[in-house]
Amino acid sequence: MKTPLIAGNWKMNGGVEANDALVRAVLGGLQASGGAEVAVCVPAPYLAQVQTLTAGTPLALGAQDVSAHDKGAYTGEVSAAMLREFGVRYAIVGHSERRQYHGESDALVAEKARAALAAGITPIVCVGETLAEREAGRTEEVVKRQLAAVIHLNGHCISEIVVAYEPVWAIGTGQTATPEQAQAVHAVLRAQLLAATAQAARVKILYGGSMNAANAAELLARPDIDGGLIGGASLKPADFLTIVGAARAD
Ligand code: PGA
Repeated sequence: MKTPLIAGNWKMNGGVEANDALVRAVLGGLQASGGAEVAVCVPAPYLAQVQTLTAGTPLALGAQDVSAHDKGAYTGEVSAAMLREFGVRYAIVGHSERRQYHGESDALVAEKARAALAAGITPIVCVGETLAEREAGRTEEVVKRQLAAVIHLNGHCISEIVVAYEPVWAIGTGQTATPEQAQAVHAVLRAQLLAATAQAARVKILYGGSMNAANAAELLARPDIDGGLIGGASLKPADFLTIVGAARAD
């Protein structure tokens, strides 16, 4: 059985004081837990702070993005090697907010996944359809296209990635996909990964989009839902820990 992964995505939230309190509160609850793997993906300026706070603890450190390039004239970008220097274990790539607000293409997302893998960082590759795409019956086509670009570029390394299915209409809206809707898409993604390599059985497929303390257990009980990518609820330690507990109980 796969160890579930619960990853918090703080997005552009936090501050030195608030981060300290949040990480300490999460760590306080984690000590008594165990079972699920837990990570927090923090804004880049706070990597050093959170690295220090989490050193020697079971809480893994993640970034929210990574450059597709190794180094050079790419103002504002952060390379995978730089992330690695701060003990980063995971990097979210292709989050819908980056696809939407920064015009990131499937091809760029695949390059970012490759850059992360080359530096020994596990990319959390986000895929998901908009409401219009779902209503047009295009969910499967869209998520498969998004994942195919990553599979195509990364070949046999694909078993090293984590996938996050995040329906765009569920992100930050309080409108969660039902466990049935999520499981159906996860099964499609699982089949697509398995067609690429048999090793893909071990790829974790997380669900993200308004996962919270109340709905986590039901979602995480589904066979192809191997964890969660948690936005809003990851900023509330009690809620985040309840989700971690729900993953453990599964
Ligand atoms: P949410 O965000 O949990 O606030 O919906 C999830 C995400 O965007 O990763």
